Amino acid sequence: MNDLDALVDSARSSFEAATTPSELENAKARFLGKSGRLTEMMKGLSALGVEDKKIRGAAINQAKQAIEGALGARRMALADLELQSQLKAEALDVTLPGRRRGQGGLHPVSLTMERIELIFGSMGFEVAQGPEIEADWFNFTALNTPEDHPARSMHDTFYVEGGTPGAPNLLRTHTSPVQIRHALQHVKRHKAKTDAGQSMPEIRVIAPGRTYRVDSDATHSPMFHQCEGLWIGEQVSFKDLKVVFTDFCRTFFESEDLVLRFRPSFFPFTEPSAEIDIQFPSGPLAGRWLEVAGSGQVHPNVVRAMGLDPERFIGFAFGMGLDRFTMLRYGVNDLRLFFDGDIRFLSQFQ
Ligand code: DAH
Repeated sequence: MNDLDALVDSARSSFEAATTPSELENAKARFLGKSGRLTEMMKGLSALGVEDKKIRGAAINQAKQAIEGALGARRMALADLELQSQLKAEALDVTLPGRRRGQGGLHPVSLTMERIELIFGSMGFEVAQGPEIEADWFNFTALNTPEDHPARSMHDTFYVEGGTPGAPNLLRTHTSPVQIRHALQHVKRHKAKTDAGQSMPEIRVIAPGRTYRVDSDATHSPMFHQCEGLWIGEQVSFKDLKVVFTDFCRTFFESEDLVLRFRPSFFPFTEPSAEIDIQFPSGPLAGRWLEVAGSGQVHPNVVRAMGLDPERFIGFAFGMGLDRFTMLRYGVNDLRLFFDGDIRFLSQFQ
C-alpha cells in the first residue's frame, strides 16, 4: 500500500472513530486542515519535477477526494445517528392510554346538597343561607329554647368570642336559625302589604349548610351538614309536611316504594314534633327503619319570633342530616370518609 492509500485509510478510520460532529471536525483538520497531513503532502509537490508533479498531484487529488468523500459520508451518518437518538428520546407510544388532566369534582355531600336544592326547588322552595358563627338568640332563644332549657345542653356547643354578656356567639348547632333569619327578612320585605290587609306570600325555604357539635365517632363529626326546611302560610298543615317530605325522599332515593314513618318526638321549636324514619323496600338496608330528619309544626313562640301572628300563620319545619342522606344514597358506612380528603374515596363520585 502506498503512502496515499495509507493516508486515506487512516483518515477513514479516524472519521469512523469520531462519535460527535466536533470530534469529526477535529479529525478533518488533522488531514485536510492548513497543516494537515494531506496539505503537507501537497506542499512537498514543489520539490518535484514537472512530470512527477503531474502524477503525484493527480494521486494526491484522488486521495483528497476519497478523504472528503469519507468525511461527507461520516457527517451524514452522524447527523443520522443524532436524529435517531432524538426520535427515540421523543418517542410517543400512541398505544399508551392518554394522560388526562386531573379534573376536580364535587364532594359527595355537595352533590347531595345540589340534589336537594333541585328537588325542593321544583316544589317552589327557595334556598337560603345563614352564618356559621351564630348569635345565641337565633340558635336557641328564637327557637323557643330558653337559657335554662335542657335542649341546650343536648348540643354540646362550640362557643366563640363575641356576642353579648351571658350569651356568647357560637358555631351553630343546627341550620334551624336560618328559619328565623329568612322569615324575618321575608316578613320585612312584605310588611307594608301585610299591614294593608293583603296576604303575604308563603314562606317556603330550605337552608343547607355546615353545623357544629362536640361529637366525634363513625357516625358523628364535630362539623357536619344539615338542611333545614320551612313552609309557613295561612293554611299549611301537617299533612303538607307528610306529602312534601315523602315526595322528596322518594325522589331523592329514586324509590317510589320507599316507606316513611312519622314517629312522635320532641323539639322545642315544634309542636307536635316527629322524627322521620324511612325504610327501603329492597337492597342491603331493606326492612330497617332509618332516622333521617326531625320535623314538626312550627311552635307558636317561633312563629312569633319570626314577626308573625301565630293565630294566622302556621306551618311546618324539618331538619335533616345531609351526611346521613349521602351515606344512605351511596352506601357509605363511615362518616369520617367524607372529611379525610382521600382522593381514592372522593374520585368515586365523579
Ligand atoms: N334542629 C334539629 C336538630 O338539629 C332538627 C330539627 C327538628 C329541625 C325538627 C326542625 C324541626 O326544623 O322541625 O336536631
